Amino acid sequence: MKLLRVLNGEAISPPPVWLMRQAGRYLPEYLQVRAKAGDFISLCLNPELAAEVTLQPIRRFGFAAAILFSDILILPMALGQGLRFAEGEGPLLPPLQDTSCLNIRAAPGVYAPVLETVRRVRAALPPETALIGFAGGPATVACYMLDGKGGGEFPRTRRLAYDNPALVQSVLDILVDSTITYLQGQITAGANCVMLFESWAGIFPPAQFRKYVIEPNKRIVSALKAANPGLKIIGFPRLCGLLLGEYVRETGVDAVGLDTVTDPAAAIAACPPGTVFQGNLDPLLLKAGGAALDMEVARLLEAFRGTPHIFNLGHGITPDVPTAHVERLMQLIHAG
Ligand code: CP3
Repeated sequence: MKLLRVLNGEAISPPPVWLMRQAGRYLPEYLQVRAKAGDFISLCLNPELAAEVTLQPIRRFGFAAAILFSDILILPMALGQGLRFAEGEGPLLPPLQDTSCLNIRAAPGVYAPVLETVRRVRAALPPETALIGFAGGPATVACYMLDGKGGGEFPRTRRLAYDNPALVQSVLDILVDSTITYLQGQITAGANCVMLFESWAGIFPPAQFRKYVIEPNKRIVSALKAANPGLKIIGFPRLCGLLLGEYVRETGVDAVGLDTVTDPAAAIAACPPGTVFQGNLDPLLLKAGGAALDMEVARLLEAFRGTPHIFNLGHGITPDVPTAHVERLMQLIHAG
């Protein structure tokens, strides 16, 4: 598997490619299955349909990796917190007041269908295509659990970090333990590597970033690596800025997903030798297409040449990206 060769430190040209949110609303075949499933959560918990949408972008574009079709918020739902997706509004949860409603032991029964999806996808994928398992990073998932919705500001979580740090820490502790069990389940079911989405890592000042992002990520990485020798883990501490090098060094992740605003050369200089990079084309440019896309892809390939690199976006693909632009992207990368 090309993806695993790169995760093991090899620089390959052209690099393996996959795209965050590669299964999603920009694909007409996804919309069809989504309509059949009813709502998004039912789709995540339906192994047959979830496996189908995981495989769709592989068939269409030949990406080097499939990523399990699920969501980072399935874990809090499995722990007992209510979750719904309001059309046009994104996820909504009842903001957590304390942790007494969370039940770690009940969670595996609720997310069992997700592990069945992993089994089915691994069995159906071509042998050269890697399957990426994932979970949200504890800080990011805690933001949704404590604020009850997305949007990127998370005012309640940030305030609680000052007013009631014990509550924040107890949510994080529960998430660390349950994330280890959840990801171990995905690995046992056939995931070839795993990724931690710390999409909102960038909202915390440095001292909180160390406590709420680095420490919990480190505990997850250590536990999974101890139990699975050779396992490769990708971290994605989005918008963490100058704390990138410290994040990689301290957590022990093998690879780091770079956000759209991070310069490749600066990232390479900041991280320990041997770090693998994933990223970081602006999703908006994939939507725009044209000569600007061609030039930026060439620039990124050049910036990472000689460095182990997995080509990806700097954040998820948006529903309005024309599939022709993704085809163009694949051509550009394979022409190298
Ligand atoms: O990458 C993939 O193709 C795999 C599946 C995946 C989804 N969500 C599917 C999804 C993954 C890895 C995620 C991660 C996720 N979910 C993150 C971290 C990555 C990131 O984007 O920052 C976050 C923050 C979430 C929470 C979440 N889920 C939000 C904020 C939303 C609403 C946004 C929107 O586009 O409406 C979702 C819904 C969601 N997750 C969709 C998909 C395909 C859209 C659901 C639909 O309407 O079909």
